[in-house]
Amino acid sequence: AAIGFDDDAGTWLPGEAELDSRLVTILFGSETGNGKELATSLAEAATAQGLEPRLVDMADYKLRTLRDEQDLLVVTSTHGEGDPPQTAMDFFEFLEGRKAPKLPEVRFAVLALGDSTYEHYCSAGKRIDERLAELGAQRLADRVDCDVDYEDAAAAWIAAVVGTLGQSPGADGSPARNGGSPSARNGGSPSARNGGAPAPVAFSKKHPFEAAVLENIVLTGRGSTKETRHVELSLEDSGLTYEPGDALGVVPRNDPALVETLLQRLELAADAPVAVKQETTTLGEALAGTFEITAATPRFLEHWAQLTGAAELQALCAADRTKERAAFLRGHHILDLVSRFRVGGIDPDVFVAGLRPLQPRLYSIASSLAAAPEEAHLTVSTVRYLLHDLPRTGVASGCLARRTDEDATVPVYVQSNDHFRLPDDDTPIVMIGAGTGVAPYRAFMQEREARGVTGRSWLFFGERNFRSDFIYQVEWQDLHRSGVLSRLDLAFSRDAQPKTYVQDRLVRQGRDVYAWLEDGARLYVCGDAERMAPDVHAALVGIVAEHGGLDRDGANAYLAALKRDRRYLLDVY
Ligand code: 2AM
Repeated sequence: AAIGFDDDAGTWLPGEAELDSRLVTILFGSETGNGKELATSLAEAATAQGLEPRLVDMADYKLRTLRDEQDLLVVTSTHGEGDPPQTAMDFFEFLEGRKAPKLPEVRFAVLALGDSTYEHYCSAGKRIDERLAELGAQRLADRVDCDVDYEDAAAAWIAAVVGTLGQSPGADGSPARNGGSPSARNGGSPSARNGGAPAPVAFSKKHPFEAAVLENIVLTGRGSTKETRHVELSLEDSGLTYEPGDALGVVPRNDPALVETLLQRLELAADAPVAVKQETTTLGEALAGTFEITAATPRFLEHWAQLTGAAELQALCAADRTKERAAFLRGHHILDLVSRFRVGGIDPDVFVAGLRPLQPRLYSIASSLAAAPEEAHLTVSTVRYLLHDLPRTGVASGCLARRTDEDATVPVYVQSNDHFRLPDDDTPIVMIGAGTGVAPYRAFMQEREARGVTGRSWLFFGERNFRSDFIYQVEWQDLHRSGVLSRLDLAFSRDAQPKTYVQDRLVRQGRDVYAWLEDGARLYVCGDAERMAPDVHAALVGIVAEHGGLDRDGANAYLAALKRDRRYLLDVY
């Protein structure tokens, strides 16, 4: 079903007066929620203009209706090596495939979201933009590519697109749906909303809630090669709620030790004033809480190449040196660039101009409100590494690892994840998770236990060593004993040779896994996106082929159908 931007209003059906004006569809592809958020803002802005946009997730889009579109506004993010959001794969495959219809009647505009740290910046949006033009559609507005600090660029694009739509003639030559009063459905328009009493301040990405840290312990045992933490946060009096499967956005602060070292290398004082968004703050505070100061982006490299005039850096900025640049940036974070290529007497404002805003990090919530009211638990693997002999930490995982004092707090917000939900009923579930990918399953099991759901459940969990890394061991065993968790299969990769991974356990249980799928089970995969999820997928293809008596194409189609039916769900990162 299409996701309405106004949940209370139900489904929109065109009224008679509207039948002769143009159909406006806002199509979004979203993985972490930013695409959906911007598409919703666009829908609100269009609605405020008297338009009646339809807001649809690419995951739910009926591909056959593409040929009937009139004004198609697309918002999509890009992930990994230039991939579209997981849930938008079918849409991309169709649009870029041979069966895509010619679209000479369609007008379109694309907003592309991305992260300029990656070489394939905004490529999903670029692909849609190019392909729609290739299919004969008319560009309403130029594509805009937004970096992680997308707010201003996105707002400008939304204003431009809505402005163009508002002016454009309808199919009958009369103005299209502008000028009229906002429609009856339009309870969600900003003007209607502003008329009422002021809404209570809701905590969000922009206004996170300062959550008290109730517990912060290391789960992994002595001798572990990892440091995986269990962090319990209080949501008391925040009004924040979530469903199992949702994520918590953590707004981090940078490592104070890194800030100090960076200031030393820059030969700048922590209390030097800098301007940030028209306000003056100190350089120390800006580096701690406003900007990313770990990995360097290609943009920072360019900035630094210009400031230093270093030939080596300038050469790396050439358009055709993508690979060398990426390798160099892996080995040279901002601190390393600043240390190796000195700029004497740099102006603090000039330095921060090369940085980008500090971004929140998302963690799958590992608890259920039904079991832990007003709390959210996280399972966090602390990222620690050495670079040029200096110890470093992951931005958010390191920040959480430092929040061990009794009065520690962390700013958080809830990021809902509609694509990773428990069934409402007794449908069997198969949960596959490696490492911290097990987090949402703890939430699932808590929820099912608290609600007395009796549906079957099966967990495949993988980690390095049984003795030190079997996180939440006692909880899984208790759940297994009480029957909430029906089956438990474990893969400890470093206990024996050859390595055993979750997919090896799946294959070994292939017959039963297939039987569960045939019984209607829902399948979840959570954890590493780069290798684990594709390897698990390959294992599933083999299982379905073998036990379903299908060839590879047949098995792939079987799994594709599961995905379409929302019975094969991924939460990978
Ligand atoms: P490894 O570190 O011994 O290679 C959580 O990180 C667990 O996922 C670890 O046991 C890790 O094993 C394992 N893992 C690594 N690569 C994987 C892959 N491609 N598929 C499944 N599990 C993997």
